[in-house]
Amino acid sequence: MANLDWTRLGFAYRKTNTILSCSYKDGEWGPVESHTDDNLTISAFAGALHYSVECFEGLKAFRGADGKVRLFRPEENAKRLQRSANFIGIAAPSVDRFLEMCVRVVKENIDFLPPYGSQASMYLRPTLIGVNPQLGVKSSTECLFLMLCAPVGAYTGGTLQPSYTVISRDYDRAAPNGTGSFKLGCNYAASLYSYNLAHKLGYEAVLYLDPSHHAYIDEFGSSNFFAIRDNSYITPKSDSILPSITNKSLETVAKELGMTVERRQVPVEELSSFEEVGECGTAVVITPVYRIDDKPALESQEVKPYLFGSKDQCGPKSLKLYKMIRGIQDGEIEDPFGWCLFV
Ligand code: PLP
Ligand code: COI
Repeated sequence: MANLDWTRLGFAYRKTNTILSCSYKDGEWGPVESHTDDNLTISAFAGALHYSVECFEGLKAFRGADGKVRLFRPEENAKRLQRSANFIGIAAPSVDRFLEMCVRVVKENIDFLPPYGSQASMYLRPTLIGVNPQLGVKSSTECLFLMLCAPVGAYTGGTLQPSYTVISRDYDRAAPNGTGSFKLGCNYAASLYSYNLAHKLGYEAVLYLDPSHHAYIDEFGSSNFFAIRDNSYITPKSDSILPSITNKSLETVAKELGMTVERRQVPVEELSSFEEVGECGTAVVITPVYRIDDKPALESQEVKPYLFGSKDQCGPKSLKLYKMIRGIQDGEIEDPFGWCLFV
């Protein structure tokens, strides 16, 4: 096993043994290749470099209590990649090819898979880029599908460490009827200015509103939003947010735990009535939110703060949801939904 401090990994690049690649050319996919070097040679005219002909995924592998290795819902990621690729008009790998590469990359990098109990996991980053040389704005005809991985810990702070966030009213992440619901690199580029500004001001995450009205909550820059009130799990319904696989799983888990699930528009003012608020996603898992500042503009002095629970503890219902989903991923709890794929 690699000689790493598994409890201090954070979410960062780390060189592993191999990356995998598969090329699409002349209408067909070639063989899967494994490389120890993670540098690429592509044309400087590749569409990915100019017009963001790029989409990606994120999923995790876990070493279980029973010693088995599990991937969490990889088929969902395969299908979402196909949906993103379709939107930008490029070829996507089949679900089978996607799954085969997920399993193989974990096997080839098994010594980087964190041990059970470390609260760390292996993050897989499937990435699809347009590579043929081009100048005009067109969908790429040749693509490279990469399967990358890295051992990761908590995305921000520590595991279940509540976060301090701010609403962005002066910058949107996605346009109305735009790309927000697809996992495209361009959405993250669009969030960088507001994220950098918020980060400089001491916030860990930015909460974006629906870009048409700025009246309803959309999502955070790298995760979906959920709230708890009474016995309800409430999460936004919007065309401009990423359909999170974690959020969809939490809805199922919440129902299993006897909670009501509400997926609907969530007006900003409703924040004052929530008992618990959290971020959810593959990288953030569940990150409780301690505070959301609403400001007319990020740099404005005028602040309306919304506070949830304690500064250093996760709320009880969010903790219950966290334990169930992590328990399934770690093989501590039986997987009644058939979500895990064994490596
Ligand atoms: N929303 C955004 C913008 C994200 O980047 C992510 C991360 O993938 C999510 C939501 C959560 O999605 P998932 O649970 O599928 O990882
Ligand atoms: C994920 O949770 O998989 C993400 O893609 C979020 C972020 C690291 C971009």
